[in-house]
Amino acid sequence: MNANAAAESFFAICPRGLETLLGEELAAVGARDVGIEAGGVSFSGTLPIAYAANLHSRLASRILWQIAQAPYHDEATLYAAATAVNWHEYFANEQTLRVDVTASRTPLRSLEFATLKIKDAIVDRLRTDTGGRPSIDRAQPDVRVFAYLDATTVTLYLDLSGEPLFKRGWRRDKGEAPLKENLAAGLLRLANWSPERPLFDPMCGSGTIAIEAALLAIARAPGLDRSFGFERLRSFDEAAWRSVRARALAAQRPETACCIVGTDISTRVIEQARRNAGLAGLAALLADGRLQFAARDVRLSEPPVPASTGADANARGQIISNPPYGEQSSPKSASVPNLMRDFADRMKLLFAGWEAWLLSADRDLPRQMRLQETRKTVLFNGPLECRFFRFELVAGKYRARSGTHETKPAD
Ligand SMILES: C[S@@+](CC[C@H](N)C(=O)[O-])C[C@H]1O[C@@H](n2cnc3c(N)ncnc32)[C@H](O)[C@@H]1O
Repeated sequence: MNANAAAESFFAICPRGLETLLGEELAAVGARDVGIEAGGVSFSGTLPIAYAANLHSRLASRILWQIAQAPYHDEATLYAAATAVNWHEYFANEQTLRVDVTASRTPLRSLEFATLKIKDAIVDRLRTDTGGRPSIDRAQPDVRVFAYLDATTVTLYLDLSGEPLFKRGWRRDKGEAPLKENLAAGLLRLANWSPERPLFDPMCGSGTIAIEAALLAIARAPGLDRSFGFERLRSFDEAAWRSVRARALAAQRPETACCIVGTDISTRVIEQARRNAGLAGLAALLADGRLQFAARDVRLSEPPVPASTGADANARGQIISNPPYGEQSSPKSASVPNLMRDFADRMKLLFAGWEAWLLSADRDLPRQMRLQETRKTVLFNGPLECRFFRFELVAGKYRARSGTHETKPAD
């Protein structure tokens, strides 16, 4: 990496609620001037630092490279600001393009028209400079331009990620309402999970939390199995990228002892979770039992027993899960509030000393479970405002309730 390379400005987008943790993650790969903002983190560094951020970030959704900033007050000044950029310096006119605009407090009436103006400006400038024009491809563009408009300023970015970063390249099968991978990684970070502690997700769906935990345990960079937008830009420094990747490969710890277990009532999603884990490069952990998936009703949950791979059988673990909400519960299962009450009874009985961390859009969850949360963090699962509750399951504090349901795993 060229230590004298110019410092560039970047913005990393993440789910709301994870900004501070993302700032720490970016600082760990060498980002400077880390600034926490709503919905993301600004930082500076060289382009190879941004490559490393794309490869290593478990929490970011995208990383954008700021290439221009200018005042504007109407469509004409917006067009002028976008025409002033020498786009040909960044990409070729034969490449396909997509433009996205977001705004807060903009005086412009239509974001759609603003998007059109910026797209026209890019196309016109490229045509003037090269005689050719890029075509627009909204589905799989080579290059994405993002513009952010506030009341007086337009900031233009080139997207360095391409496909969003939560797409790690391993997900073929989705369960019902899967968590995005970066939100699942955020739950693990907020819960301060580390591989010495058993991890149990008793409503694991397609296995997102368990798979992210296993990747974290073996220190496998989440972006090793995918490509990135920066590879298609003129600035792409292939030698620097190869060395960033080589360092990530060398930093893996494939033998790390851990006990990560996911269960779900649906045998179908458990099959998907196993398949996904295999595609994520976790076959060795599945084979020796460090990562386990099984079909089971949450009301029959038991503390997982670590396979004999060095994990501490006496360590008090963490339950980290996002239970069904609304009507999501399995048809063969109880209503969600009843299910959660029965699950809470089971935890009180068998998981003394554990911590349970549950992500739910239902603020009433602690009351349904008759448990008092010891922490509550607001997070957004897409547009859905959720709470990430922590419950401490204190030994000997609860009495068993009679009449808990026992049902068989269903499909
Ligand atoms: C919100 S989804 C979890 C999604 C998961 N985090 C993922 O990323 O794929 C809730 C899950 O709870 C499961 N579920 C519903 N009732 C259950 C029960 N009684 N026991 C175990 N799992 C249950 C559903 O099958 C579903 O997969």
